[in-house]
Parts: sequence; C-alpha cells; structure tokens
Amino acid sequence: MSVERTLSIIKPDATKRNLTGLINAKIENAGLKIIAQKRLQLTRSMAETFYEIHKERPFFNDLVDFMISGAVVVQVLEGDNAVKLNRDVMGSTNPDDAEEGTIRKEFAESIEANSVHGSDSLENAQNEISFFFANIELVN
Ligand code: CMP
Repeated sequence: MSVERTLSIIKPDATKRNLTGLINAKIENAGLKIIAQKRLQLTRSMAETFYEIHKERPFFNDLVDFMISGAVVVQVLEGDNAVKLNRDVMGSTNPDDAEEGTIRKEFAESIEANSVHGSDSLENAQNEISFFFANIELVN
C-alpha cells in the first residue's frame, strides 16, 4: 500500500445543511487524515476551470451554478490508497446507487447536489490539490 493524497470538496448542499462535521467524521473514521482544509466561496471562473473536463457535458452549466450557490469546504486527505478509499467512503455519484453507510447515501440530495467531490485518480488528485493549496498549507 502507498500513502497518497487526494482532494475532497464538501459541496454547497452539505455546507448549507451544516454537515461538514458529520462528513469529516466519516472521512476520519475511514482512516483518512485531513491534512488541509478551508472554506471558500468559489467564483464562476474557478468552478468552470476546476470542472473543465466536463465542459462539453449537458450538465456543465448547472454544475457550475450549483458549485457557486454557497460555500464549499476544500480539503486534502492523506492515507493508504487515499484516492480509492475516499471514493469508497463517498459512494456512487448518484445517491440512488450509493452503498449503505456512504456519505452520498446518507447525505446527498441528488446526482448534482451530491454533497462531496473526490479526485478520481492520483494524477487528477495532484492537479486538483495544487489548484486549491500551496505546499506550505499541507501539514501532516
Ligand atoms: P463530481 O464528483 O463533483 O464530478 C462531476 C459532477 O457533476 C458530479 O460529481 C455530479 O455532482 C455532477 N453531475 C451532475 N449531473 C451529472 C450526471 N448526469 N452525470 C454525472 N455527474 C453529474
């Protein structure tokens, strides 16, 4: 097993319902360490750049509108196989398909308002972490 870092975002549907602590407890109980965290209001330009990979998808504009509809909490998680472990803790993108006990099963409202984002590969994790954090902010 190798120690990895991954980017997590607690999305506006969850911050509005004051779920940051409950979501962080699920992350920590799974063995992941939150080594950096900040609460931000994304600008439209930041959200468009972050989700650029989905630019051609029909849901892109709605996704950007949603991501700037309230505060987000961006965080860096560290642990053994952190990228996959966090994806397992999050559950499927669509909460209807998410497994019992996962964050999305418990908290997500819809496929769009699905409470959390997590990097889907180690390469994307490195890019997404550097989008939000400077190295000096990552303290393990
Ligand atoms: P996330 O992991 O943040 O990555 C892209 C997001 O697009 C995804 O979670 C969903 O919240 C959102 N999204 C909205 N509609 C869809 C859809 N039909 N299929 C996949 N993702 C969607």
